Amino acid sequence: MSKRPFVNRLNNLDPKTWLKFQKSWFLHAPPPRKKGVLRHPAKFPETLAQEFIEFFTKPEQVVLDPMVGTGSTLVAALRSGRNGIGIELNQTYANIAQKSVESERELLGKSAEHLRSQVIQGNASEISSIFSKYHLPLIHYVLTSPPYWDMLHAKGAQTQKKRRSSPELDLQYSEDPEDLGNIQDYDEFLNQLVRIYANIKPYLEHRAYLTVIVKNIKKGGKIFPLAWDLAREMGKTFTLKDEKIWCQDDIRLAPYGLGNAWVSNTFHHYCLQFRNE
Ligand SMILES: C[S@@+](CC[C@H](N)C(=O)[O-])C[C@H]1O[C@@H](n2cnc3c(N)ncnc32)[C@H](O)[C@@H]1O
Repeated sequence: MSKRPFVNRLNNLDPKTWLKFQKSWFLHAPPPRKKGVLRHPAKFPETLAQEFIEFFTKPEQVVLDPMVGTGSTLVAALRSGRNGIGIELNQTYANIAQKSVESERELLGKSAEHLRSQVIQGNASEISSIFSKYHLPLIHYVLTSPPYWDMLHAKGAQTQKKRRSSPELDLQYSEDPEDLGNIQDYDEFLNQLVRIYANIKPYLEHRAYLTVIVKNIKKGGKIFPLAWDLAREMGKTFTLKDEKIWCQDDIRLAPYGLGNAWVSNTFHHYCLQFRNE
């Protein structure tokens, strides 16, 4: 009996690479960050974004990041031969994203000439007017990571300690009241964030996936389960498929609560998978 040929409707990966990506957790060792993007306090690596994009799309399809920061999603989209659209509130980060995209295009030369990579400085809360103003196409995949509530304002955060001594590095994204990272009330933050993602739905292809990279948050001695709350709330608009846990094993342990109380070192992020069904 002849074996049925492998038909791949989702991406262009071979079965072995497909299976490897299906593991529910992963470690990722990215190359060091380039100088320009160091300024941003919380970016994900382009190499990580590329793995997700190559799993959830085919070449030439369109990827959206509604909070694109310094442009990791767009650079990864270019590298994998996909089109990318990014929205970012902060003009400085939008400019860095634009520069990152331009230098990536130079490196890729002819192979990327036909691809679109568009950085839009704007407020993701106004997604419908952005889509109509820029005549944006239907989206095949959303890859994004929101501000982790107002955590960048937390004085004791380990990453912040290092940044405080380097004036060229930002401690928070902006002072802009439209910046979700400046909302103090947790429920208000969660509602606004969920609304942004839900409002993308009319612009998504049927059965397109969305990946949101996020963490649960510790504040004032208790956990605010942002990843879990987001999974539940976004699950009302999209189908929650599962989580893939990004484990970081290259961060130095801090002696929080030593000899006194349980305070973990949180070295993992949730990559939540949803589908527009
Ligand atoms: C976690 S960062 C994203 C980092 C990005 N993935 C990267 O690799 O550079 C979240 C971003 O959301 C942006 N942001 C916050 N509120 C926004 C809003 N209302 N509209 C668009 N972007 C917003 C912040 O300026 C910040 O750059």
